[in-house]
Amino acid sequence: MSFDGTLQERVEHWFAQGATAIGNGEAEAAFFELRGALEAGALRAAEPDASLPLGWRVNAWAKRGILLGFRLGTMVEMGSTEGLSFVDKGTYPARRFGVVDGVRVVPGGSSVRAGAYVSKGVVVMPPAYVNVGAYVDEGTMVDSHALVGSCAQIGKKVHLSAAAQIGGVLEPVNASPVIIEDEVLVGGNTGVYEGTVVRKRAVLAAGTVLTRGTPVYDLVRGEIYKATAEMPLIIPEGAVVVPGSRSISRGKGQEWGLSLAAPVIVKYRDEKTELSLVLEDILR
Ligand SMILES: CC(C)(COP(=O)(O)OP(=O)(O)OC[C@H]1O[C@@H](n2cnc3c(N)ncnc32)[C@H](O)[C@@H]1OP(=O)(O)O)[C@@H](O)C(=O)NCCC(=O)NCCS
Repeated sequence: MSFDGTLQERVEHWFAQGATAIGNGEAEAAFFELRGALEAGALRAAEPDASLPLGWRVNAWAKRGILLGFRLGTMVEMGSTEGLSFVDKGTYPARRFGVVDGVRVVPGGSSVRAGAYVSKGVVVMPPAYVNVGAYVDEGTMVDSHALVGSCAQIGKKVHLSAAAQIGGVLEPVNASPVIIEDEVLVGGNTGVYEGTVVRKRAVLAAGTVLTRGTPVYDLVRGEIYKATAEMPLIIPEGAVVVPGSRSISRGKGQEWGLSLAAPVIVKYRDEKTELSLVLEDILR
């Protein structure tokens, strides 16, 4: 069952073999090479591509490779014999960092899974979790209780505030992951799920939740943004989104006086917003 080719060809081949790939040394070698490339940032689950309408290209084969790792992995015990103990797929242990990596991982319960890329200058405050296939670019802050889900793409100088939840999108493999572009502020207790794209320098106020099914109301441009069958929900560059609500105008909802959550773009980033967002650079 020997198979030669590029990393992509090998990954596709062993993925297509299904359960018969389990225990095969060549399949494992292809997976470990893929995992190493993801960790080095040389390969990404999704990458910018200006020629496409979304501006991002999903590398479905990289996501297949990640799934291959789950299939090939067997359960192993991890951690020291004295301290905390863990049991997980041996293909996805916690990454180990050294001073040379240039990433600060403050002690206290954070974990970055093997197969995640974390650039120099990133700060990870405890507890936080960065899952496989995630890409966290330079100068980004991952604050306490933040989740960077599988394959999520986080740009440069992004601030993921406390308890920000960036959902993972691993399957279906051709589905676009959540993408947070450069210099976005993701406020505390926010949730960004299901392939939502947040363009550069946008601000999500504390408590904003965005999914494929969430319409977003732009008061400035007089438009309503929604995901379509082809495109995810996209928050425009520089938009300031705050959690709002809209009343239900028919049926029982109206009778009962209910309203639904409705994120609202109240403005586009201006000097006042910059003042609200001054970061404590010295902490970095
Ligand atoms: C969005 C944010 C940055 C404010 O931006 P700003 O540019 O200073 O906003 P402004 O004060 O000019 O407000 C513009 C409008 O939005 C409203 N607004 C602002 N923030 C709001 C919020 N969080 N929720 C609801 N409405 C909000 C204001 O009342 C104002 O409306 P008005 O003109 O009708 O009065 C701020 O609210 C925020 O959420 N910061 C993030 C906080 C956070 O999570 N920090 C985590 C650090 S770990």
